Amino acid sequence: MATFALIPAAGSGTRLAGGAPKQYLPLAGQPMLWHAVRALCVPQVAAVFVVLAAHDEQFARQDWEAFGAKLHPLYCGGETRRDSVFNGLVAVRDSVNADDWVLVHDAARPCLPRADLRRLMDEGAADSVGAILALPVADTVKTAGKDEAGVQRIAATQERSQLWLAQTPQMFRAGLLTQALSRCAGATDDAAAIEQMGLKPRLVLGSRQNLKVTYPEDVAIAEAILARTL
Ligand code: CTP
Ligand code: MG
Repeated sequence: MATFALIPAAGSGTRLAGGAPKQYLPLAGQPMLWHAVRALCVPQVAAVFVVLAAHDEQFARQDWEAFGAKLHPLYCGGETRRDSVFNGLVAVRDSVNADDWVLVHDAARPCLPRADLRRLMDEGAADSVGAILALPVADTVKTAGKDEAGVQRIAATQERSQLWLAQTPQMFRAGLLTQALSRCAGATDDAAAIEQMGLKPRLVLGSRQNLKVTYPEDVAIAEAILARTL
């Protein structure tokens, strides 16, 4: 059984408000996507597929030489993350077997530590369903409701001990994930599609270092982490 990586990188980065797709935002001297690819270019991963928007012009302008023949761009991104991952899986169907593992990893997580990836691959490969990196919630969580004046007020405090934040990579068999995503329209991660099939993916402890760059203030944190670990 081989292991492949698939990086959805066809988003538009609207919450970062940079005016440009955030996967190409320079971080510590390289585009954010470069760091995400680097994190997955390990000997155990046979190939890294990157799903780009059909009209992407920036990928071809960057230097990917460091990754040699392992990196394969696919110009088949879709409307949503789910569509991009699904289109990518369909595009590689001839080179990836249904039983092979696929590590789906967001281009927006450029700081994935080697130790987290290793833990995920070790625990995931031993699991019949698959696994994701995740973190127990540290903050107290409230649900909100608006009062008559439209002010947001606390409706309830959630029991925190069972809440985890889903990260990526998320590791599933290519065939199962393709089937799960084909049936499911609204998932914001891959595990949600698997869950909708009635399966229970394993939670593997991640780290806060593996943050998702979503808002402008995340950029400086990611740069600081990369400056320390590169
Ligand atoms: N993504 C994708 N195709 C889409 C939407 C998102 O491949 N149609 C990818 C993004 O490029 C990113 C990952 O999915 O690597 C996680 O998405 P997110 O962090 O939400 O990135 P964006 O969608 O680009 O940002 P925003 O939601 O703020 O617009
Ligand atoms: Mg998005």
